[in-house]
Amino acid sequence: MKQVTCQGLAHQFPGTGWLFTGLDVTLSPGEVVAVVGPSGSGKSTLLSVLAGWLEPNLGSVTRAGVEHTGWVFQNPVGVAGRSALDHVVLPLLTRGWPRGRAVPEALGIMGRFGLDEVAGRRFRELSGGEAQRLMLARAVAASNDLLLVDEPTAQLDMATAASVNRVLANVAQDDVMVVVATHDPHTRDACTRVIDLADYQGGNLNVGCTAGVSAAAAEAGDSAPPGVATGPELLPSARRLLPVPHPLAASWLPPSQAGRGVS
Ligand SMILES: Nc1ncnc2c1ncn2[C@@H]1O[C@H](COP(=O)(O)OP(=O)(O)O)[C@@H](O)[C@H]1O
Ligand SMILES: [Mg+2]
Repeated sequence: MKQVTCQGLAHQFPGTGWLFTGLDVTLSPGEVVAVVGPSGSGKSTLLSVLAGWLEPNLGSVTRAGVEHTGWVFQNPVGVAGRSALDHVVLPLLTRGWPRGRAVPEALGIMGRFGLDEVAGRRFRELSGGEAQRLMLARAVAASNDLLLVDEPTAQLDMATAASVNRVLANVAQDDVMVVVATHDPHTRDACTRVIDLADYQGGNLNVGCTAGVSAAAAEAGDSAPPGVATGPELLPSARRLLPVPHPLAASWLPPSQAGRGVS
């Protein structure tokens, strides 16, 4: 059974204060869980913790049955000259599907995201909303166990964002856990459950555990950063993970370089 279980999560970066504390959450397949809070509240940080990119200062994350983790970012990233269809077919081909089976499957997935009309269009010719919906369709085709979607509408105007929010729930699949970080109330409403980081501010930290982490950091030769008087530092193991590398290859051009507009 696929499941991600978080217990007692707390994290801060040097100088930020606690972004969240005492966060318990269990993710199950079939759900689309929104992580909400204002800009800078720690939404992307929590996604990185869920992905295993970042070790939390406190608490534990247990991942059962999670082999593949996918991301969709606020800026759609694709290959400028390749068709929209190619982007969705590729993950199926890499899973060993023959092209004759992958193309109709990809077209079916694209239909769920309102992309029937643009399947043959090059990535650079897509609108911002179409390109973002293509990222969702590609993520579905990639058959991830855990899918993390970070601010999918942040770069879009309201009407275009609405076109993404209308189909967002279609990323839900019986065997995929989906988490969407957003500060867009309409995106939140499109999800099946909400984690509001405001509910995890300033909770009671386990002092013994905090002392333990600080001691480990001190042992590793880490001194307290300026402005952080108490509490755990960024663990050396977590520091090694930063800055977070972009997971996609350099051949995937951002839209600005792909020469298409934003709307
Ligand atoms: N690698 C990092 N090192 C230091 N501070 C960071 C790092 N990543 C994020 N922060 C800080 O942590 C806070 C939360 O960031 P983030 O999780 O990106 O917020 P959100 O996604 O909610 O906008 C911000 O103040 C940000 O500047
Ligand atoms: Mg963010």
